[in-house]
Amino acid sequence: MSRSPQTPAIDVRYVRDEDVPEWTRAFSTGYLRPSVEGAADYMRVALADDRAIGAFDKGRCVGTYRSSVQELTVPGGARLPVSAVSKVSVAGTHRRRGLLNRMLDLDLRDAQQRGEPAVVLDAAQYAIYGRYGFGPATQMAWFEIDVHRAGLHRQQSGDRSDICLVGADEYFKLAPEAYERFRVAQHGALRRDTLWWQEATGQRIGPGSTWTEPFYAVHVDEASGDVDGLMCFSAQERWGAMLPQSPLQVRDLVALGPSAERALLRYAVSMDWVSTVHLPFRAPDTLAPHWLGDPRAARITALSDFMWLRILDLPRALSARTYSTEGAVVLEVDDPVGFAHGRWLLEGGASGATVSSTSRSADIALGVQHLSSLYLGDEAATRLAELGHVEELHPGALRRADALFRTGRRPWSPRAVSSEHYGQAGLG
Ligand SMILES: CC(C)(COP(=O)(O)OP(=O)(O)OC[C@H]1O[C@@H](n2cnc3c(N)ncnc32)[C@H](O)[C@@H]1OP(=O)(O)O)[C@@H](O)C(=O)NCCC(=O)NCCS
Repeated sequence: MSRSPQTPAIDVRYVRDEDVPEWTRAFSTGYLRPSVEGAADYMRVALADDRAIGAFDKGRCVGTYRSSVQELTVPGGARLPVSAVSKVSVAGTHRRRGLLNRMLDLDLRDAQQRGEPAVVLDAAQYAIYGRYGFGPATQMAWFEIDVHRAGLHRQQSGDRSDICLVGADEYFKLAPEAYERFRVAQHGALRRDTLWWQEATGQRIGPGSTWTEPFYAVHVDEASGDVDGLMCFSAQERWGAMLPQSPLQVRDLVALGPSAERALLRYAVSMDWVSTVHLPFRAPDTLAPHWLGDPRAARITALSDFMWLRILDLPRALSARTYSTEGAVVLEVDDPVGFAHGRWLLEGGASGATVSSTSRSADIALGVQHLSSLYLGDEAATRLAELGHVEELHPGALRRADALFRTGRRPWSPRAVSSEHYGQAGLG
């Protein structure tokens, strides 16, 4: 995998406890954040169950890389154990010397040894990860809703007995369980652990953070009494010549069904004094605009690839998901590192799949990064073929692959906005 000239004098290895302050400083610098007192202790807690890798040049940390234990919901609802990569940085003084190559090489090989079938990450830059076998697997859209054009009638947005505003402590009690139910039905979703919820509710605030207390709303299903929707949001009071012009930022909104999503969105859009609602991190096929009287009031302000995925153990990954039709396809997969390389017979259907190595002639040929893009159902083999990334070896094979892999609704990897990152992708 190492294609750039290496610098053997630089030690690439797992981080030990005594390295954490230096590693934290290097990560902050790489992400253009100031180093602050107490950051290392805060990071130490976050890294407790993770693998942190560092590149060290004469004891000074010049590269950082983190790999966390995660679970990814795949089409059909199975939860695939994956590594989630974050905190990737190389010091500006040490770039283009192959340090990222070496850190990723170490992590991917160890992930494969641990038996993890795939790795995911949120890519800060499009150009970096394709060479390592990652492909964009989900997209995200940011919306800006012009409240005055939304065309909501009072009776659609008035008093709501099904929505409760709660305090941070109560949200912390209610939200994790509701999110657990949500994520099993949402392919593309990742687990949120206790630390995640502590940070989302201000119970754990990083040193130097600009945390401001948000509002928390839950939607309760009237029939069951269960919480089936969560919304965390902030707003700023702003006026212009006696006219309210307050923006409302949805930091997080997940719902277990369309009616909870509709109720929470309409609640946000119908709040007195609010003129604009910012709704980030949605799947591009979100229903959100359609809960407004006029869907055009919701403008997309950003549309981008988002979560990238890399298949390591092809039979295990492909047999974990379900497929939209009953059918078979033979895939010739090119993986320069070898993990997923080979010719594979995929026989899939609504209840799962079997995947085996085969000597049958292949239907389509593609690189592992493009198979990884197909995996969650967000990409089409036909489209990748037009881009020159997939080769059809038997007539009709692309159509068959599309019918198998595509999903009715697109995958979604919901993320939440922390206050200091509002307006950015908020990579952590
Ligand atoms: C992205 C980053 C980690 C790369 O580190 P690096 O040690 O310079 O990368 P390497 O020298 O190992 O380069 C690996 C390969 O990726 C390519 N590459 C690296 N950064 C790239 C970039 N930003 N754009 C395009 N290609 C890039 C290199 O040309 C090299 O290709 P090759 O193997 O075909 O020669 C580093 O530039 C950085 O810290 N950037 C700012 C923080 C960031 O964006 N982190 C990613 C968070 S998801």
